[in-house]
Amino acid sequence: MITYSFINLKGGVGKTTISTNVAYALAAAGAKVLFIDNDKQGNASMFFGLKDKELTLSDVFLKQDFDIKRAIYPARKFKDGQIDVLPSNMTLLPLNMEHKDINLNNQENKTFILKNALKAVEGEYHFCLIDNAPDINFTVYNALIATNQVIIVTNPDAYADSGVDEMDKQFNNVLQDRQMYDEDYDEYDPQNNFILRGALLNKYITNSYNKSSSKYKFFKTNIKLATNYEASKRFIESIETGKSILELSPNCLFSRQINKFVNELLYDK
Ligand SMILES: Nc1ncnc2c1ncn2[C@@H]1O[C@H](COP(=O)(O)OP(=O)(O)OP(=O)(O)O)[C@@H](O)[C@H]1O
Ligand SMILES: [Mg+2]
Repeated sequence: MITYSFINLKGGVGKTTISTNVAYALAAAGAKVLFIDNDKQGNASMFFGLKDKELTLSDVFLKQDFDIKRAIYPARKFKDGQIDVLPSNMTLLPLNMEHKDINLNNQENKTFILKNALKAVEGEYHFCLIDNAPDINFTVYNALIATNQVIIVTNPDAYADSGVDEMDKQFNNVLQDRQMYDEDYDEYDPQNNFILRGALLNKYITNSYNKSSSKYKFFKTNIKLATNYEASKRFIESIETGKSILELSPNCLFSRQINKFVNELLYDK
């Protein structure tokens, strides 16, 4: 199982939109996909038709020796493929509040909880995708510890580089913790490494942004800002119906760019 985390401290950049559609693209291609919603807003859980489930990601943290499989549910039916989901809800809020004052690095017993719990299912999936909250908190740090490849989703505006130094610091802390506490850590093994894979430019407007002036290493693929009526309507329809944009319109620009991104993610080294 290879685990990807979609992250940015900035909200509204498209983490949930991109990660849910990438999950669909992978599943439709035949991969077994586990999706973890790591945001109290529960947007991805809603999208997958799993709002208000009794057992959620919070139980993995709150109950000792909790069997993670109990909180994993099949998403609503898609045209192609199947996705399993570990949903979230507002119970993540008090959980993160409780841990807000702890220094997250060097806390092996607190920050390896998700990684250890996932060992029970890692043989069942090709990919695990984690959609994170716009924050670095206790559960996001746990997600990073469980991650192989970090994907920063960002936008081409003046705020795009904000938070970059804080994220860098946390990525370094996570890498140090993995090197120190994870006996399986291996920088050359895709299932046991931890790398900052790159930044994905979403809501791109042609010629509006110079990638080379940013601190990030960018993917070649950009995802354009959907501005025309049909495309914008599709974003709303996708959220309302829980259908992936790739299902609603497999040949639209957004779908083609998601497919291109997935190709780059899997095959460009
Ligand atoms: N390429 C795009 N073109 C147009 N609209 C987009 C695009 N990508 C995302 N959006 C829209 O931007 C809004 C925010 O997207 P999304 O919820 O995926 O962001 P997020 O980073 O997950 O937010 P949060 O930080 O709150 O979790 C949504 O209304 C979504 O439909
Ligand atoms: Mg989101």
